[in-house]
Amino acid sequence: MIAPSILSADFARLADELAAIHGADWVHVDVMDAHFVPNLTLGLPIVESLLKVTDIPMDCHLMIEDPDRWAIAYAEAGAHNVTVHIEAAKDPIKLARDLRAAGSKAGLSIKPGTPIEPYLDVLKEYDTLLVMSVEPGFGGQSFIAHVLDKVRTVRNLVDTGHLNLLVEIDGGINSDTIEQASEAGVDCFVAGSAVYGAADPARAIEALRTQAVS
Ligand code: DX5
Ligand code: ZN
Repeated sequence: MIAPSILSADFARLADELAAIHGADWVHVDVMDAHFVPNLTLGLPIVESLLKVTDIPMDCHLMIEDPDRWAIAYAEAGAHNVTVHIEAAKDPIKLARDLRAAGSKAGLSIKPGTPIEPYLDVLKEYDTLLVMSVEPGFGGQSFIAHVLDKVRTVRNLVDTGHLNLLVEIDGGINSDTIEQASEAGVDCFVAGSAVYGAADPARAIEALRTQAVS
């Protein structure tokens, strides 16, 4: 699966930019609060407006403090998947259950320097694990390859029936890096600059998909 990130889109033309990624499996929306990460993007009112103009399932990546307080509203608004950071969530098990009760899938994200081992039980409550392969905050950064160890650990637990979730990766995914991520066991690839920096975003999506499965 390919999930283009609108962080690299033209924010003055978001409806057009959503139309440009037909063929995408999900659209990835980065919500940043200038506290959990040193950048500010968009919040619930814009997400609600975007949901009205696209049929592509929305993958909301909340890089915010206190997701326990704010995340449910994104599920209630109609996001397909709502992802919170393990470094920010106070009660991640309750949060996952509340997100599912509000009608979305529950996603958990983990920064490059955070180990996964303490959270394997928590992951049983989640539908997706979003492994960050850059420090969250900005598009266009270089891929951090050592996070693929986390991908392999979780892939193995999924393949042996100990976990049931999708493994997603976010940051620095492009034609040079997608194959190694695919080999490590990623199911869903977020790509911002590699899609929206291309002359034809829809063709870029198809090219990435071909590389991921080959
Ligand atoms: C970074 C965001 C990413 C970002 C990825 O904090 O979470 O979703 O858009 O951008 P690229 O694909 O350019 O690294
Ligand atoms: Zn993201």
